[in-house]
Amino acid sequence: MDTAAKMTIDPVAQFASDVRAGLCKTGQKELPSKYLYDPLGFTLFEAISQLPEYGLTRADERLLRRHSMEIVRHVPSPALVSELGSGSGRKTRWILRALCEREPVSYYPIEISRTALASCESELGDIDCVSIVGIEREYLDGLREVAALRADGVHLLVLFLGSTIGNFDSGADARFLSGVRSVLARGDSLLLGADLLKPIERMIEAYDDPLGVTAAFNLNLLGRINRELDGDFDLRQFEHVARFNEATRSIEMHLRSKRRQVVNVGRGGFAATFAAGETIWTESSHKYTRREIVELAASSGFRQEAQWVDDEWPFAESLLLAV
Ligand code: AVI
Repeated sequence: MDTAAKMTIDPVAQFASDVRAGLCKTGQKELPSKYLYDPLGFTLFEAISQLPEYGLTRADERLLRRHSMEIVRHVPSPALVSELGSGSGRKTRWILRALCEREPVSYYPIEISRTALASCESELGDIDCVSIVGIEREYLDGLREVAALRADGVHLLVLFLGSTIGNFDSGADARFLSGVRSVLARGDSLLLGADLLKPIERMIEAYDDPLGVTAAFNLNLLGRINRELDGDFDLRQFEHVARFNEATRSIEMHLRSKRRQVVNVGRGGFAATFAAGETIWTESSHKYTRREIVELAASSGFRQEAQWVDDEWPFAESLLLAV
């Protein structure tokens, strides 16, 4: 067995260990938000992005559709494109088409979700001048792989769209962008999509929609634990909660236990006790100010070159240059 193989951690064992750590800790129980995206979770997120109350994805796509030509004008040629968390890839079409006006494009979407990669490849496979190579890895590992492939003189454009940056804990967003910067060369670019602060009622509606799609997306995490880790969560005994944390300027999603209960997770080898009303914190979605994005860029080794803001749903697309 080579070193790389030895170091690979079994994903189910990792999931079990993260769930155990999050549910057995004292104080606020929590689960990492990356586990929301199993195939069903990915499909529910796609449905969320079409909800009238959730304007984020449409704003992101509108900006890319309207400004893609201007955006790519800031990107030197020849360029190789990589995307962190491509999702279905629908929004990326505009950037790829704009780049295709000047040269054939190699596009490397990086995803931990195989379902997302498959959907991205079928969504974008019809653009003739784009060759797509999906990379099923964690973001930074995948990006290192892509960076190692580029020839001398080729510029790297990294796309990090959809405000996934907001799902990092406070401070972890800057650390993550510094990690991205460390893989890039000076002059490479990062196109960053970030959701902006807006009135609280509008944000809450987006994360607690009347159809209950976001509630299903959140509860599916417990369903996933049942399916993959032999858990016995009774999903009807938990409810979705979305609240705004003023101190961190984040929408938090929680799952609240409706009564006192004990839940067993067979493959995790543990049982967790929940008090009535106790919550599991499953996701934070930070809402940025425009100034904050400039500062975030500066603190992680980038400089903001340009920024485009949607006029219907406050959302910013920022082109950052590695300095
Ligand atoms: C993927 N991410 C940017 C979404 C968000 O808005 O934070 C995930 C999401 N959670 C609930 N609704 C959407």
